[in-house]
Amino acid sequence: MSYFARPGLATELADQLRGQAVFGDAHNGLFLAAPRRTGKSMFLQHDLRPALAERGVLVIYVDLWSDQRRDPGDHIAEAISLALVEHAGVVAKTARKAGLQSITIAGALKIDTSRIGKPDGATLTQALQALHTAAGKPVALIIDEAQHALTSEAGEAAMAALKSARDQMNTPDDVALMLVMSGSDRDKLLRLVNANGAAFFGSTIHQMPTLGKSYVDHVVALIEQQRAEQRPVDHLVLLEAFQLFGYRPQFFHAAIGEALNPLEAGNGERFEQRVLAAARRRRDQDAAQMRSDFLGLKPLERAVLWRMLALGRAFRPYDAEALAFYREQIPGLTVSAQKVQAALENLRDRTPALVWKSARGEYSAHDGAMHAWYQELEQQGMWPPVDGQPLCKS
Ligand SMILES: Nc1ncnc2c1ncn2[C@@H]1O[C@H](COP(=O)(O)OP(=O)(O)OP(=O)(O)O)[C@@H](O)[C@H]1O
Ligand SMILES: [Mg+2]
Repeated sequence: MSYFARPGLATELADQLRGQAVFGDAHNGLFLAAPRRTGKSMFLQHDLRPALAERGVLVIYVDLWSDQRRDPGDHIAEAISLALVEHAGVVAKTARKAGLQSITIAGALKIDTSRIGKPDGATLTQALQALHTAAGKPVALIIDEAQHALTSEAGEAAMAALKSARDQMNTPDDVALMLVMSGSDRDKLLRLVNANGAAFFGSTIHQMPTLGKSYVDHVVALIEQQRAEQRPVDHLVLLEAFQLFGYRPQFFHAAIGEALNPLEAGNGERFEQRVLAAARRRRDQDAAQMRSDFLGLKPLERAVLWRMLALGRAFRPYDAEALAFYREQIPGLTVSAQKVQAALENLRDRTPALVWKSARGEYSAHDGAMHAWYQELEQQGMWPPVDGQPLCKS
C-alpha cells in the first residue's frame, strides 16, 4: 500500500528547527518519541528529511539501531565523516579559490575522517563546523533511536559533544546545526534531557503524532478505488481497528490485505469486521506474549521487573525499599544485591532482552509497551498476572 506523506507536520517541524517559529525551542534540539512500529523512521526519512533539504539544509540521518553491535559513538562519528568525504571536493575547491587567506577552511582539509571523535582526531564540533563551511549550508543531524547512545560511554560522550557543537555553531540569528533525536521510548529519551548531567538538560520531549484519521481516510480511498465492489467502506470500523492495532500501519495493511483476499472470504461478513477481529486478536496476542514472558521468569527476576515497571524512572534496584519489596514477594528467599544484579543481567541477556541498561546504570523495560501493559492491568486491578486469567477486562 502506498506511503501516506505528512508534509504539513514536516514543514512545521522544519520551520521550528530553523528557529523560525515564534515560540518553542526546537532550534536547541528536537526530541521526538513515539511507540515502536508507528512510522517514526519513515517520517524522518521521507517527510522531514526532504522538507529540510528543500529549505537548503544538509541532512545527515543515522539510525543507531541499524547495527546494535556497533558502538553508538562510532556510528555518529562515521555518519558525519561520510558526509564530510562527500563534500571534500567542495572543501578542496573552496580552499583553492580562497587562496592563502582561508586558513580555517584549509584546516578542514586536514581532518582525518577516520579519526573523527577519537582522542587523536578532530572533535565532532570541528568536523561539523568543517562540514557546514564545506557545504555552505546549515547541517541537520537526525539521530534515530537516540536513546541507544546512552548505552555506551562513547555514545554519551558523542551526545555531550553534539550539545557543545550546537552551542558553538548556533547564534540567536543563525541556526547552523539542527539536532533531531527520536526514539521509541519516551522514558529512555528523557534521560537525555532530564537526568543529572544529561547532555540536553532542559529540552522537552515531544510525542510524535501517530498516523490517525486522515491516514485511515487515505487507505479507505485506495480501497474504494481498487475494490469498487466494497463501496462504501466503513471508515469508523477501520479507524477503530487501526487504533486497536496500536496505530501501527504494517499490521493494519496486512490485516486489510488478508480480509480483502477472495480466498479468505468469510461467511458473508464485511471485510471491515474481519479487520477489526484481526486487530482484537493482535492485541490479545501481544498481551499474552508479555504475560507469558513475565510468568516464565524466575521469581526474583519477576519481582525485579515488577518493581521496575511500577516505579519507572524512580527505580533503584538495590535500595533498602527495593530489597524489602523483593523479600515480600518471595517469602523465605534471602535476597542480596548480588542476586538482584544477576537477575538484572539475566533480564538483559535474554533474546529479546526484557530490560535495558544505560551507561550510568539506569534500568527500564526494553520495550515501552511493557510499561503500558503494566499500567493497564494495574488500573484494572488485574496485576500481577496469573496463569489462566483473562488477558484484560474489555
Ligand atoms: N506514512 C506511512 N504510510 C504508510 N505506511 C507507513 C507509513 N509510515 C510507516 N509505515 C509502515 O509502517 C512500518 C513501520 O514504519 P517505521 O519503520 O517508520 O516505524 P518505526 O516507528 O521507526 O519503527 P521501529 O520502532 O521498529 O523503529 C513501515 O515498514 C511501513 O510499512
Ligand atoms: Mg525506526
